[in-house]
Order: sequence, then structure tokens, then C-alpha cells
Amino acid sequence: MKTIIITGGAGFIGSHLVRLFVNKYPEYHIVNIDKLTYAGNLANLKDVEDAPNYEFIKADIVDAEHIFSIFNKYQPDGIIHLAAESHVDRSISNPNEFIFTNIVGTANLLNAARKIWGDKSEGKRFYHVSTDEVYGSLGKNGFFKESTAYDPRSPYSASKASSDHLVRAYGHTFNLPSVISNCSNNYGSYQFPEKLIPLFINNIRNNKALPVYGKGENIRDWLWVEDHARAIDIIFHQGKNGDTYNIGGHNEWTNIDLIRLMCRIMDRKLGRKTGESEKLISYVKDRAGHDLRYAIDSSKLQKELHWTPSLQFEEGLEKTIDWYLENEEWMNNITSGDYKKYYEDQYTKR
Ligand code: NAD
Ligand code: DAU
Repeated sequence: MKTIIITGGAGFIGSHLVRLFVNKYPEYHIVNIDKLTYAGNLANLKDVEDAPNYEFIKADIVDAEHIFSIFNKYQPDGIIHLAAESHVDRSISNPNEFIFTNIVGTANLLNAARKIWGDKSEGKRFYHVSTDEVYGSLGKNGFFKESTAYDPRSPYSASKASSDHLVRAYGHTFNLPSVISNCSNNYGSYQFPEKLIPLFINNIRNNKALPVYGKGENIRDWLWVEDHARAIDIIFHQGKNGDTYNIGGHNEWTNIDLIRLMCRIMDRKLGRKTGESEKLISYVKDRAGHDLRYAIDSSKLQKELHWTPSLQFEEGLEKTIDWYLENEEWMNNITSGDYKKYYEDQYTKR
């Protein structure tokens, strides 16, 4: 039996990955390490929490001693590292959390893996899940390739870039078997409603203003979260040590076009007149340092490891909207309490 530690498994992408691994690999022991910050939610994993091959441990990756004691006890064969502070706006208002969790936390995991594997690291793997934001911002043309120079421009992306560099450095200097992937914007179920798609679905449903940053001209490349989880599975098992793989959907949308599409779909689903939800659009002060465009060239992953995205965007977006409409209780539970204060700080003064 293999033991795989997944960090950040109670978050958005992590919970999809835990579900995939617990169901697909009954012979693996999946240990989910998560601090349960505002973004971590065990309700995301209700359907697998009693599975015999699954275990949850509440731990902060910044706590080096605790992390080492877990690694020492479980002797994992693989680590898939997703735990992070992940929201760009929060990194602008409070960069330090990002530096602790994303940089120091990653270093602690690398040190713990190095200590327990020593020079017997054959067949082991440290997989670091990263973002396309490390490459900076594109103009109208071009794509991020694995060879694109790093140019992070927000505290979030700078902290992720630092962690990528650390993972590569440990691979190079200490022969720690590692692999990195850099993915574009994910969408789907269980995403915390601070991110564009779930935030706007929730606001449309509740007839609340839709705060579009700047002119809504920024472009993102959207990928269904389950396709990201599938890519991680393939790279974890078949990727080459020391390599990097870009993951993306070839699916670029300006924010405003995406928001208009969401409004039209939701008018239909909520029985509103066409155009009614669009009236909620409200242009607000732009995000500081707002990256204009992200677009991923995922041809390496497609050619070498035969991964392709499975869902057309319109179909995925409909499915996603349906999920949030059907899971009102999940949304209401996380938008009570602290979320209200976050929302006020982030949007009321904009
Ligand atoms: P998320 O914010 O939904 O989840 C992050 C999880 O990490 C939460 O469960 C949280 O409790 C946990 N966590 C945070 N700090 C921790 C700490 N100090 N110790 C232990 N656990 C901690 O994030 P997400 O959107 O699921 O992203 C997961 C990973 O994927 C991140 O590394 C992110 O950079 C990367 N990524 C995200 C996207 C995206 O579109 N969401 C795209 C590409 C890459
Ligand atoms: O590209 C991958 C990255 O995608 C991940 O690494 C990050 O963890 C993830 O949060 C995401 O970053 P973005 O900043 O692109 O996602 P967000 O959902 O915050 O914003 C998407 C776009 O929508 C962006 O151009 C900002 C804009 N936006 C966002 C919010 C929350 C608005 O116009 N209004 C909003 O209220």
C-alpha cells in the first residue's frame, strides 16, 4: 500500500483531487493535511470522509515540527502539495500570510520529505501544484510555455514563484524527486465565493451588485477543476522528475463576456427576463497591478502524457451554476460569519 500526503485537501482543487484519489486508488492510503483556514471546508469531502483509505489531519504547514512528525509517522511515498493562500485580492491587503504559508510552508514540506527519504528517494515523488500567474501577464498575443521566464507581479504570484524555485532547487541540489505543474484559472463546484465565478453566481442569485474590476477587459483561460485533478493524477504517476507541465483549457474569456454569459444562463435558470441580471453589473475600482491576460500552452502535457480537457466551457459553466443553485446550504454556511466582514472590506469602499 502506498501512502500519499495531499496538502490543502479541504480546499477547492484539493477536495476534488482527494475525492479522485480516494475513489480511484483504494490501494493508496490518502492523508489529507489541511489547516482549515477560511478556505478549507471539510463539508467539501463529506462523500469520502468515511472511506477506509482516507484520513484527515488538521495541521499548519508553517509549523515545521508538526509537519516533520506527521511525515515521520506516515512515511509517505508521495506528496501532492496544494495548500496555499490562493486569492490575489487577499495577497494585496495582507501579503504576509502568503509569504508564510506559500514560501515557508513549502520549504517545511521539502525539508520534511528530504529528511525522511534521505538517499532512499527512488520511486518517491514531491509534486508541487502551482499557477500560471508566476509567468506574469500577457499582451493580446502569445501563450505561457514551460520555458516562459518568471515575472510574478502580485504578492500571491511572487510567493508561488518563490515556492516553485525552492522545489526546483531542492530537486537540483539534493536530488529530491520533484515535479511541478502550472495551471490556469479553475472553475467548478466547492470553490470559495471570493473568486469570480462562485461570487458572481451567488450575487446574481441574491440580486446583489456584480463588482467588475476596471473595464472587465482582463482575460483568463478557464479550466474545469475535474480536468485539473485528472491532469495532476496523470503527472503524478507519469510525469518526469525535474520537469514542469503547463495545464490549461485553451479557453480564453474577457471577464465581461464571461459575466454576461453567466447572467444570461442565470436569467433562464431563475425564470428572469433576459437582460435582467445584467443590470446588476457595476464597474468598480480596478485591482491593483491587475494582470491583463493569462493563456496557457498545454501542448507538452497533451503530447507527452496524452491529457486533454474533457468538457466544453459552456457545458461546464451550466453544470457549475446548477451545482451552486442546488447547494444553497453549502453556500449559506460559508457566507455567514467572517465572510461578511471580508466582503465589506473588499467591496464596500471600492
Ligand atoms: P483554496 O484557497 O480553495 O484552498 C487552499 C487550501 O489550503 C484550504 O483548504 C486551506 O485551508 C489550506 N491551507 C491554507 N493555508 C494552509 C496552511 N498554512 N497549512 C495547511 N493548509 C493550509 O485554493 P485552491 O484554489 O484549491 O488552490 C489550490 C492550489 O492550486 C494552490 O496552491 C493554488 O496556488 C493552486 N492553483 C489554483 C488555481 C485556481 O484557479 N484556483 C489555479 C492554478 C493553481
Ligand atoms: O490563473 C490561476 C489563478 O487563478 C490561481 O492561481 C488563483 O489562485 C486563482 O484565484 C485565480 O486568480 P485570478 O485573480 O485570475 O481569479 P479571480 O477569480 O480572483 O479573478 C478572475 C478575474 O476576475 C480577474 O481578472 C479579476 C476579476 N474579478 C475578480 C473578482 C473577485 C472581478 O472583476 N471582480 C471580482 O469581484
